[in-house]
Amino acid sequence: MFKTLTTLLLLSSTAAWAHDGAAAGQFGGQVAAAGDWHVEFAVRDGGVRVWVRDHGDKPVAATGKVTLLAGGQKLDVALKSDGEALVADAAALQSAAKVTAVLALTVAGKPVSARFAQEAVVKPALSPSAQAGAKVFGEICFACHGTALRGSDAGPPLLHPYYAPGAGHGDEVVLAAIANGAASHHWKFGDMPKPEGIKPGQDKDLLAYIRAMQAANGLGAAAPMDHSAHAMH
Ligand code: HEC
Repeated sequence: MFKTLTTLLLLSSTAAWAHDGAAAGQFGGQVAAAGDWHVEFAVRDGGVRVWVRDHGDKPVAATGKVTLLAGGQKLDVALKSDGEALVADAAALQSAAKVTAVLALTVAGKPVSARFAQEAVVKPALSPSAQAGAKVFGEICFACHGTALRGSDAGPPLLHPYYAPGAGHGDEVVLAAIANGAASHHWKFGDMPKPEGIKPGQDKDLLAYIRAMQAANGLGAAAPMDHSAHAMH
């Protein structure tokens, strides 16, 4: 009987990585262990994504709904299966927003519940260089890394402990990605193609913007982090 009881998890936005690098997301989301499963959750502009996997990281079929609290609104949305993901559409939802989500899933015939929360993205005052970088980001990089640097269906969040300064992706790695793209190594998005249309000097502006956004959102140079998932590669 106890096995059928719902597991309720409360996670802050970065706690999942701090505790268990092996349970890191494959799509840049937050990850919670819920009974026999790992549940990954991400907010996109216009909806949410959920992935349920077993401890061997194999996708597991699930159904259910999500209750979203955002901008003073409460919204119940059904999750639809879309490849490996479950998706819920919520047109007004912004990836930059403060969002609380309660997932009520059925996995292998049993109820599984998980709760996630993210803070609103902080937009700091930007230096002229970072401001110029924000403009280029909004023209080229946002398509994959998201309007709020929180990722999209095509690329990972850059507001992520993996990419914090001092966490193994130093400035030279960021500049190299801007110059050449990046081969897929952390996530399941595939390769980052070489960005087109970057003018000389704009790489430094982009770096300034990304670092300013990270610093304003708790991913500064001093932020301690467990980078065990990265070290395993
Ligand atoms: C077409 C989609 C796409 C675009 C456009 C894109 N990226 Fe990426 N980017 C990715 C993907 C996918 C990855 C993750 C690769 C991995 O580690 O699996 C990535 C990774 C990165 C990384 C980490 C690189 C590493 O070596 O780990 C940085 C930094 C980055 N992107 C910055 C940018 C910037 C800045 C821009 C705009 C100039 C940009 N990206 C445009 C898809 C994209």
